[in-house]
Order: sequence, then structure tokens, then C-alpha cells
Amino acid sequence: MRKRWLVAGGLGFIGSAFVRMVIQTRPDIDVVVYDIMSYAGNPANVAVVADNPRYSFVRGDIADEKGLDDAVGSGVDAIVNFAAETHVDRSIHDSAAFLRTGVMGVHALLEVTRRHRVPRFLQVSTDEVYGDIDNGHSFEADPLRPRSPYATAKAAGDLLALAFFTTFDVPAIVTRGSNTYGPYQYPEKLVPLFVTNLVEGQTVPIYGDGLQVRDWLHVDDHARGVLHVLENGELGNVYNIGGGNGRTNIEMTEAIIRLLGKDWDTCVRHVRDREGHDRRYAVDTSKARSLGWAPQVDFIEGLAQTVSWYCENEAWWRPIKSGDFRAYYERQYATR
Ligand code: DAU
Repeated sequence: MRKRWLVAGGLGFIGSAFVRMVIQTRPDIDVVVYDIMSYAGNPANVAVVADNPRYSFVRGDIADEKGLDDAVGSGVDAIVNFAAETHVDRSIHDSAAFLRTGVMGVHALLEVTRRHRVPRFLQVSTDEVYGDIDNGHSFEADPLRPRSPYATAKAAGDLLALAFFTTFDVPAIVTRGSNTYGPYQYPEKLVPLFVTNLVEGQTVPIYGDGLQVRDWLHVDDHARGVLHVLENGELGNVYNIGGGNGRTNIEMTEAIIRLLGKDWDTCVRHVRDREGHDRRYAVDTSKARSLGWAPQVDFIEGLAQTVSWYCENEAWWRPIKSGDFRAYYERQYATR
């Protein structure tokens, strides 16, 4: 008997990588994508698997329990939640949407998991819930110190999932991923923004001194990590998923500029820093590794392939950058 998984946020960046991976490599699993199709939820992200009979799509909001009930229908074997507002800068301008999906949305998913007795619920979270750390690594049992509205909403979602496990025996697991890069990422984030700006002949805006450190993880490694934890993780537990590739934003920008054969002096401008900008994240991943997961993509190779993908897939990102994105870019960068 095939299993049926509901993947919330399956049209987004990491969610769609997970959906493509499951449909392409797991003939034992049917996937129902549940996605509101917000600005970052793009059907083109799953176009390569959308005709597969094991794939189906329901448009809906995770904060809408009735919509979720209908999508779950006669039952599912797991719910995986990738749905979220994800961009820190947007959460600084307008945090309400973040609370709606990050808190009420996760709550509705947990209620539905409980009511339908779904055997597994996985909440995809972020290393940002730990807040920034000067040195060393964040462990799963560390206190949460989120510092942006985005990270705070995500932390609330994690805690709700764990509280539902403790209080109602809801079979919840949480993963906390690090900065993810790869194909199909909405071009508001550092990697796709900088690559596409450079291809367009524009400059790239580095916030502040650019010495902030992020731990880069390829999207396929992130998707594999979520899949592995979903099937092998212990209920009520949290698992960090990180790439182990700590780089400053300057180093990351230098690598992208080099791959595109551009010149630093004409391409880079330092702009006003992000408010409350976290300096460094780094997660310890030994718990996920002890389950048998490890990142497989070499960082230099993964970044080179990613840059090539954006160069070869202008048809994917050019319509995005010429639409609503322009108003966002103007608001975010014009006065910096
Ligand atoms: O750590 C995991 C998190 O990574 C995820 O939970 C978030 O959803 C995801 O957005 C990402 O958060 P960041 O804020 O780290 O990603 P972003 O690509 O926005 O920025 C990466 C770094 O680059 C950060 O230090 C801010 C800096 N940056 C970003 C942009 C967009 C710039 O210097 N200039 C920019 O224009």
C-alpha cells in the first residue's frame, strides 16, 4: 500500500525540492501539496513532477482548519510543514503575516494532525530560533533567543509543536535548518538576489560590514534531511540540519562574483545594515548525523551549480523580478 503525505508549503523553495525528491525517488509515496500560492509559492517549482499520478495539489491556507480537513480527507500518513513567511527583511516591515502562518498556521496544522490521528507531523524550522552566537555551535536543547519577528514566529511554531506532543501526544518532530541555497529560491534571498542582479548588470547590496556568518546548506541536503528525520526521527525531538559551511557574507559574495567572472569594485555596494541583524549562526548537527543523515553536496560545487542554474533559467526568475518584486526591491533598497 502506498503512503500519502500532505506537504504544506510544497510550492516554495525547500518544500518544492522535497516534493520533487519524494516523487522522483519514492514510488511508495503519494504527495498532496497544500499551498496558498503566496508570492513565493510558484507552481513552476514542481512543474517537473506535476504530471505524475502520485502528485496532487490543493490550494489552501494553513491557518484554515476547514481547508486542511478537506485536504486530509480520509487520512494521510504524515503532514510535513514547509509553509511559512520566510524573509527576515519582510518581517521587519510587516510582521503580522509572519505570526499568522508561523503561529496560527502551525496551530491549525497541529489541531488537524490531532483530530485525524495523523501518525507523524514534522515542523520545518530554522537555526534562527537560537539567535546569534559569537562562537561554538547551537545544540537542540539550547534556549531559544529569537531576535527578529520572523525568527520569533518560527520559535513559537516549534514550541507549539513540542507542546502538542507533550500535552496531547501529537506525534510531532521539529527540524531546524541552516541557510539554504540552490535552484528555485525566490530572488529576495542573498544567493539568488546577488546572482540575478549581477546577471542583469546591477550592483549587489551588502548589509553593514558584511562580516555576518551564515552556515550554507544545499537545498537537496536540506530536503534529504527532512525526509530522513521524518522517517527515522524520534517523536517529540528536535534535529538540527546544517551544512557545516560557515561563510561571511563577504566571502559568499566574493565566491559568486568570481563564478560569474565579475569585478568586486564595480559590483558591490555596502548599504545600511539590517535592523537587529544577527551576526552569526552555527548549528551542531551530530543528532541528525547519528540518525544516518549527512550533507552530501560539496559547497564549492553546489554553489557553482546553483549559479549556473540561475544563468540557464532566466525564464524562471525574470518574470518574478519584473512583477511585484520591483515594489518590494524599491522599498527595501532605494533608501539604504
Ligand atoms: O538561517 C536560516 C534562515 O536563512 C532561514 O530561516 C530564513 O528563512 C532565510 O531567509 C535565511 O535567513 P537570512 O536572513 O540569513 O537570509 P538572507 O538571504 O536574507 O540573508 C543572508 C545574509 O545576507 C544575512 O546576513 C543578510 C545578508 N544580506 C541579505 C540580503 C538579502 C545582505 O547583506 N544583503 C541583502 O541584500
